[in-house]
Formats: sequence, C-alpha cells, structure tokens
Amino acid sequence: MTRTPKSNSLELVWPGKYHADGTVREPQYLAESFQTVEHYVGTVTGTENLLYWGDNLAVMASLQEELPGGIDLIYLDPPFATGDTFAMTIAMGEQGIRPKGAPTWKEAHAYQDKWESASFCRMMMERLQLIHTLLAPTGSLFLHCDHRTDWALRAILEEVFGPGRVNNQIVWHYTGGGRSKRRFSRKHDTIFWATKSDKWTFHIDEIRVPYKPTSGYAKGGIVSASGKRYMPHPDGTPVDDVWDIPIVNPMSHERVDYPTQKPEQLLDRIIRVASNPGDLVADFFCGSGTTLAVAEKLGRRWLGCDQGHWAIHTARKRIASLSPRLPFSLLQTEHDVASRRQQESVGFLRVSLVEEGSTVQVQLDGIQWSKDFAIPDSVADVMTHWSDLLDSWAVDAHYDGHLFQPQWFAHRSRRQRHLPLLSEPLSTNGSGVLCIQTVDIFGHRLQQILS
Ligand SMILES: C[S@@+](CC[C@H](N)C(=O)[O-])C[C@H]1O[C@@H](n2cnc3c(N)ncnc32)[C@H](O)[C@@H]1O
Repeated sequence: MTRTPKSNSLELVWPGKYHADGTVREPQYLAESFQTVEHYVGTVTGTENLLYWGDNLAVMASLQEELPGGIDLIYLDPPFATGDTFAMTIAMGEQGIRPKGAPTWKEAHAYQDKWESASFCRMMMERLQLIHTLLAPTGSLFLHCDHRTDWALRAILEEVFGPGRVNNQIVWHYTGGGRSKRRFSRKHDTIFWATKSDKWTFHIDEIRVPYKPTSGYAKGGIVSASGKRYMPHPDGTPVDDVWDIPIVNPMSHERVDYPTQKPEQLLDRIIRVASNPGDLVADFFCGSGTTLAVAEKLGRRWLGCDQGHWAIHTARKRIASLSPRLPFSLLQTEHDVASRRQQESVGFLRVSLVEEGSTVQVQLDGIQWSKDFAIPDSVADVMTHWSDLLDSWAVDAHYDGHLFQPQWFAHRSRRQRHLPLLSEPLSTNGSGVLCIQTVDIFGHRLQQILS
C-alpha cells in the first residue's frame, strides 16, 4: 500500500510503520486453521460459544473469512505496557497454600507486559485493523487502557476507525491501594468506545444508576421556569462518561486470582448498553474470562481468546461452573496442540474404575511423574497429599479418540478448595473408551486413555 498523507489530519508514526520508500509495512500474519480440542456440553442447549487458545492475531486472521462483519461488540483489555511480568499465584490443595518460590513451570508467568513503544503500537495497529473488519456494521469496540498507552491508542483508533468514530473516552475511576505523595494518585483507567459507523446499539436505560439519597431532584423533581414539573426516572439517572466502579479487591467473591482481572460490574455495564440479547460479544485478550462470564449471564453469545495457559485454564473453570450455560468449545491450532503435548508429557495418571452395569466411576489414585520432572522443594515441603498438586480433572466416558468432551468436570476455586478424587457414575454409552484429563498447579495437562 502506498502512503497517502492527508494534509488535514494528524497521524502517529513509529519506527517501522513505513518502508523506506514510503509504502506501508503490511501486517505479518498467517490465517492458521484452528481445531476444537475440548467441548463442554451446556446446561441448556443452543449455539456453542468459542474459546481460542493462541495468539489473537492468528485467531482474528482465521475469522476474517468465516465471520467478517459478524461481531456485535468487542471489548479489549490488552497489555498496558507496564513493564511487569504478571505472575499467577497458584493456590495448592485443600488449604489453598501458595508455596513461596514455586512453581517453576514455563508458563507460571501469566503473561509478559514488556514493550518498546514502537512494537506496542505495531502490535495494536495490526489487531485493530482486523477487528475493524470483524465488527458488524452497527458494532462497537470498547478498548481499555491507561495513561501509559492511551495517547497512542487514541491516535491509532482515529486512523483505523476514521475521524470522529471515537464516541466516548470513558474514565473508570476506582479507589483502594496506596496514595502517592509525589504526584496525584493514579486512580483511573481509560476506556475508548469506537463505533464502526454512525449507527450503533445504545441502551442507556439499561444501565441507569440510582440518584443520590440527598438529591432534591430525586425527592420531588424540578419545576422549570414555564411551570412544567420534571419528575425523576424511577430507575435513576443516565450514566455519564465517568464510572465509579470498585476494583476486584482481595476479599471479593468474584476474585479468581488472575492478575489484572477486571470487575464484572464494569463488563456488565458495557455489554448491557452496547449489545442486545443473542448478540455476539468477543474479547481477544480475555484473561480470566470476565467478559465471557458476563456475556453468558446476560444471554449474549461469546467468543474469547488468550494465548496464556493460566488465562485459558482460569476462564475454562470459571465458565464451566456457570449455570445455566450454553455449550462451549476450546480451540487450538494443530501446531500448538502438538508442541503442548510434548511440553506436558511429564508423567502419567494412575486410575482405577468402579463399574456397575453401564456406568463407571473413575478413581484417581496418583500421578507417576517421569524422571525428568522434579517437584520443587518449596512445594514438596508443604504438600500433605499427592492430590494437593491437582487443580482440576475431568472425564469423557465415551471418548471418540480425538475430541475431549467431558461429561464430568471438577476443579478447585478460591472458595471451593475440595477436589473429589472419585467421579460421579457416568454412563459409558457402550463406547468402551474413557479419557481422563487433569491439570496440575504447574500447568501440566495429563491425559490417560483407557479401553
Ligand atoms: C490485561 S489482561 C486481561 C484481563 C481480563 N480482562 C480479565 O478480566 O481477566 C491481558 C491478557 O492478554 C493476553 N494476551 C497478551 N497478548 C496476547 C496475544 N497476542 N494473543 C492473545 N492473548 C494475549 C494475556 O495473556 C493476558 O491474559
């Protein structure tokens, strides 16, 4: 593409945005094909939702053909370029102990957030271009960021969506945490709301907030100069562009211990105001799955993506425990499936079966670790039972040899630490093949197939 500078508009330029001859450097991506690797039946029937495990650039590229203009609402909470590595603190066993210095598994770091400004701008530009084509003609994007990158993202949004397409710059104000004595404490994030066209979904009445109890208007309305009386709306006042919503604090019941987890109330407001029941809502940096969980609760279809193991594991547990819930599938590229299988072959499961008629119960008896894997001392020191190392497990009692579709799934959560080691009785459907899958606190996924 040849550069066509517009004399009357400003543009953000970073090293590498253009070739030396002035032509635009095109994004580098391959539209890989994703396959379903796990399928979770729903507690209600309906269209299945999709959770992609991989780089969102590859996912968005693969959706360009299947779903152009097919997504009604996209929320993005990308890395903020904080310079940090966000580690997931993994609780262990019934007591929920977090051993110091553990774990050592490669992806124990939930994600890296270290960026040069040019590579950050390029990364976001490539993705926002694909997102623009995926959005429905009346679709909306809510892009979450903070003071580190908001100045750059605003300029990139104007370039990709067109001038004037940023409808609002929402300030999410929160309290809590420390206070600075060197500068004003940074207590807000920015959420840009951009639309694909000049038509969009906006249900402001869905998200009214109650008037303050001290409001005179709320008590008796107001009388205009002409004598007309205006009465308050029974549901409260329309929300403006400064949102006071508490962060997910350490004691919060919705906390899943994923770093940078956003409050459900924030996503509830965005999804209610900018989509309709049945619409497709997507989050391509879904982390612990906040957007997906809220979309599910509000009767929207959803599509999520994250490249991190802990994000996918946390989101999968979070969604699987919702009821009512539609079916959902986990998808990966063939290449990722193969390389992950290799990384995870650190042992095998010891299991026994309790059979009765056409049902079977699976009993987990232990894990035989391969000699290449050593449990870190910090973990071994506080471990009281081998199963302390398990975080979740599931059974597919009629495994077809390819797709893992558990009929039974158990996991630990922040509030529910007990993990049963005997499954419920499961009908074998006469297939004769069982697949058992576990995820441990190091992130390994072990699979055992029994005939
Ligand atoms: C700020 S966190 C999102 C937190 C999320 N909103 C929540 O409530 O849990 C950003 C996420 O983006 C993911 N991520 C970063 N780069 C990615 C990429 N290229 N493809 C997919 N996921 C990515 C990280 O693994 C991380 O989980």
